[in-house]
Amino acid sequence: MNHYNHTDDIPDLPAWLERGRQLAANPRLLQDLGRGKTLCLLFFNSSLRTRLSTQKAAMLLGLEVMVMNFGSEGWNLEFADGTRMDGGTAEHIKEAAAVVGQYADLVGIRAFAGLKDREADYAEQVLNGFVRYAGVPILNMESATGHPLQALADALTIDTYRRTARPKVVLSWAPHPRALPQAVANSFVQMMRRMDVDFTVTHPPGYDLAPGVMGGLQPVYDQKEALQGADFVYVKNWSSYTDYGTILNQDPAWMMTADKLGDAYFMHCLPVRRNVVVADAVLDGPRSLVIPLAANRTVSAQLALAHLLETNS
Ligand code: CP
Repeated sequence: MNHYNHTDDIPDLPAWLERGRQLAANPRLLQDLGRGKTLCLLFFNSSLRTRLSTQKAAMLLGLEVMVMNFGSEGWNLEFADGTRMDGGTAEHIKEAAAVVGQYADLVGIRAFAGLKDREADYAEQVLNGFVRYAGVPILNMESATGHPLQALADALTIDTYRRTARPKVVLSWAPHPRALPQAVANSFVQMMRRMDVDFTVTHPPGYDLAPGVMGGLQPVYDQKEALQGADFVYVKNWSSYTDYGTILNQDPAWMMTADKLGDAYFMHCLPVRRNVVVADAVLDGPRSLVIPLAANRTVSAQLALAHLLETNS
């Protein structure tokens, strides 16, 4: 069974980007592909873009959609095997996932990292619990360690706005008052490593991403040096991977400003904290791609859902 849980689940990226261009030009190109099938979207965490763009994508493919805010409306799930459930958990993932699989042909899951236990987060117990027990294809709508729908929209956007055959793309860490997961940064790095781009990651010491994500790519700790000659600057905060889930640095000098951006394009997955992560002048300026990038979330969800429908039929 094929799932869309990781950027590696894209078998042929250039073909997906080409199909993405076709879907952007003609959103109803595949309007009958999902006819008679049901997609269930389960949210363990908040969302604006993922929830609406995935629903929109499903409707454009002819799917029927059910949405549940599982985090606030579902039972507390148990994941451990052989446990005596006399505590705070009311339902085991084995039954919960299998039951959801009775109602839907495809299931989307959003379940963020807890940021307390790195091993548990990187084991992806919620996402992988549904993969294991639902019996239907699973769509990752941002898990503990990855956001492949976002990364696909990022790739579509860079592909659309590139001015050179091999643009320079920089992922730049930014300060944030709360500890955030590494999921968006992880998937962005994994996607850029597959694209024909000159890719640089810059962050303060202590924010190195997982070695398996970086794949030998060395970060640049000097943001100014990293930004030189950039065509696209993707800004994102993440908490420390090595000192797991902690905030080590809140230096406002890492915020993205119009001066630093120059004539590069600015990208961020949203939501974004103005004048903490990025200055107003960037978000409100002509080089910001945040809105077209959000629009591409619908295309990326169409591509992933179409793949699941076509390869699992
Ligand atoms: N970028 C993104 O996934 O947005 P939401 O968290 O609002 O879905």
